[in-house]
Amino acid sequence: MSKINLLIKKKYKYELLENGFSNKDISIGKKVLSSKRITMAQHTRNFENQFARKLNVKHALMVNSGSSANLLAVFAAGNPLKRNHLKKGDEVLVPVLCWSTSIWPLVQFGLKPIFVDIDIDTLNIDISQIEKKITKKTKAIMLINVLGISSDLFKIKKIAKKNKLILFEDNCESLGTKLKNKYLGSFGNYASFSFYYSHQITSGEGGMITCDNDKDYEILFSLRSHGWFGGTRFYSRKFKSYNKYAKKFPKLDPRYIFSNSGFNLRPTDIQAAIAHNQFLRLDKLKKMRNINRNLIINKIKKSKFWDNQFKFISPSKDFDPSWMGLPILINEKFKLKKNTFINYLDQTGIETRPIISGSFVNQPAVKLYKLNIKNEKFKVAQKVQDLGFLIGLHTSKISKKKLQLIHDAFYEIDKI
Ligand SMILES: Cc1ncc(COP(=O)(O)O)c(C=O)c1O
Repeated sequence: MSKINLLIKKKYKYELLENGFSNKDISIGKKVLSSKRITMAQHTRNFENQFARKLNVKHALMVNSGSSANLLAVFAAGNPLKRNHLKKGDEVLVPVLCWSTSIWPLVQFGLKPIFVDIDIDTLNIDISQIEKKITKKTKAIMLINVLGISSDLFKIKKIAKKNKLILFEDNCESLGTKLKNKYLGSFGNYASFSFYYSHQITSGEGGMITCDNDKDYEILFSLRSHGWFGGTRFYSRKFKSYNKYAKKFPKLDPRYIFSNSGFNLRPTDIQAAIAHNQFLRLDKLKKMRNINRNLIINKIKKSKFWDNQFKFISPSKDFDPSWMGLPILINEKFKLKKNTFINYLDQTGIETRPIISGSFVNQPAVKLYKLNIKNEKFKVAQKVQDLGFLIGLHTSKISKKKLQLIHDAFYEIDKI
């Protein structure tokens, strides 16, 4: 197979990412900057409240990235203040088509990720494999909801309940998707979200973590910020523990009690104000991405050249998807031409990327940390790596010219 040889510096005609910011996003950000109150405060609090309300979850806590949200979730689930918390050496099931920082918080805590293959129709964890991988040591599942859709989370929730497993939902790629009218990111004990540039909404960098349990929220809250109930001026001091510690340690200034270990994963109020403004138009952005997706798929499938050269992921009617990019699998018969095809798209001005990072066990970091010592093979994820790629989905309507560009470039696959 030829090497992928991308012209990174070139200006693409159809980019993975468009400019995600409106003029209003930027002016709101500037206003916060001019106010000179930049650190986490009222804008963060307002955004968290609105986020929790829309997703119908009890608590939302903003952080500085999706990776930080995963880190916080894992360390909160393993915190000594949590009943039946995770312990070093516990096993956590993870789909092998995942992002790096879905896994590293597990390893950093001392947990053991156990990879599970995926389902080719959804690109998400293969539910039929989950129970086969559960052992006495399994204590959690770290799900990744891929690019705007998920597995059947109602079924997975039942499996988790039956086996007393903590459910993490890495929902960094699927903000706004509903499954049977319930938002993804409201199924797990903890769910994470990313507001990095290419995601459903963006503040450049940023993330959120949600949960329904009050005690979990208190732990997350203190871990986010130095192991402290600091910053409470913008949060009601209703935490039961806040008053409990204040009474128990009367010699300490109640504003400066450190009840836990901690990080500093706080966002700035600038990020919160921008992300909040984007969040207000999430439904519109979602609708536009859906329209563009249908236009691209129809242009390809209704072509006179259509002969199943490509496979698009088509979720069941139970989903109301909020896409992050358009994943595509080329027909198996073109497997050996894939890199030549990707290079061709690149040279034509169409930017692509792999689907997440491919099968994660192929990454050198997995070897470095000996996470797959038995050299287990994951056939379906490997297939997705060998046949899959992604193009962008933008939030303004795609032009006829760009549709034609994609159509013509895609059908070169028959000729190269
Ligand atoms: C599934 C998944 N999890 C976590 C992350 C990390 O998010 P961030 O870039 O905000 O740290 C990403 C980022 O793209 C992701 O796709």
